[in-house]
Amino acid sequence: MVAFGANLSVFWILSANSWLQTPSGGTFSEGHFHVQNYFAAINNPFMVRSVIHMALATVETSMLVVAAISAWSLMRQKAPEFFLFSFKLALVILLAVAPLQILAGHESAVQVAEHQPTKLAAIEALWDDQAAGSSPAWTVLASPDEASGSNRWSLSVPGAFSWILETRPQLSQPLRGLNSWPADQRPHMVGLLFYAFRMMVAIGLAAAALMALSLLLWWRGGLSAASFAQWPWFSWAWILSAPAGYLAIESGWVVRCVGRQPWTVYGQLRTADAASVLPVGEVLTSLSVFAVLYTVLLVFALYFGSRIIAKGPNLTLEPPGLAAPVILPDRSGNV
Ligand code: HEM
Repeated sequence: MVAFGANLSVFWILSANSWLQTPSGGTFSEGHFHVQNYFAAINNPFMVRSVIHMALATVETSMLVVAAISAWSLMRQKAPEFFLFSFKLALVILLAVAPLQILAGHESAVQVAEHQPTKLAAIEALWDDQAAGSSPAWTVLASPDEASGSNRWSLSVPGAFSWILETRPQLSQPLRGLNSWPADQRPHMVGLLFYAFRMMVAIGLAAAALMALSLLLWWRGGLSAASFAQWPWFSWAWILSAPAGYLAIESGWVVRCVGRQPWTVYGQLRTADAASVLPVGEVLTSLSVFAVLYTVLLVFALYFGSRIIAKGPNLTLEPPGLAAPVILPDRSGNV
């Protein structure tokens, strides 16, 4: 029920957030949105791919956490049989999820290219227009400089951009660079967007590579409980993948929501106009209360979570199905 509820929440939050990215299902007039078709509003152009990308992100991150706890325990030779099983279980699920997530991420980028050209230009630090039929370079790393509207330096792969975006040698559509938009109609903080996107992609690729390497070891009979103590680098790579999953999720949200600026409703309502009409003091108070509350919850979750992990599983408990049958007395009291 918890998993069902969490996924229902993923659906509605992502549907609502997708509507902010690609508003549909009605008309805007005189500062109001008039819904004409609720289904079209819910099923807006960004909805399906965004829900899939987010749902996969939650499963992938959860599996990275399971694998990390297992690797940490195996490195200390704690309940090896139990944790080798949970590690392998996480690996099998990651085999399904990690490659799919790369595909889903690519699809998210394609929809951004279709509907939000300013976001695409920002996450790629693309300053100048690119004509249809051209083969732009793909920038791997750069130092974006908003003042000059260019990159101070960049490391690029020539001709790779259209391969990555469209799997073809030349662009089928022209792409607008950031410099061709008025300053008040495109996102700023280009460096943050450029590197948040790269961080997410790098973590997604690294997780898939680590999963593939571990499966290969398992397949070739080289993965045992002893491997984790024998290869600390292997254990640490898995242990660090747990926080990396959360980092990828946060980076994804930075890309999605900082990238849609200066709009709250893309192309329709500016963030400056959507700001609360409440006095600053009140907004600051509620924001601070939320921040403190969630920080306290996080500290408790980390404290109790790490205690449970340090304690390890109780292996003396019988699984419910294997418990001794309960023998009830009959009417005359005989057992
Ligand atoms: C490996 C290749 C990946 C690519 C190409 C990719 C691409 C993208 C793109 C383009 C967006 C922005 C979508 C938008 O603004 O509408 C996005 C958002 C997001 N990404 Fe990724 N991503 C990748 C991997 C990951 C991984 C590994 C995770 C987490 C485990 C992740 C989590 C997220 C989240 C939470 C969002 C915001 C919500 C959403 O759009 O569904 N991404 N991603």
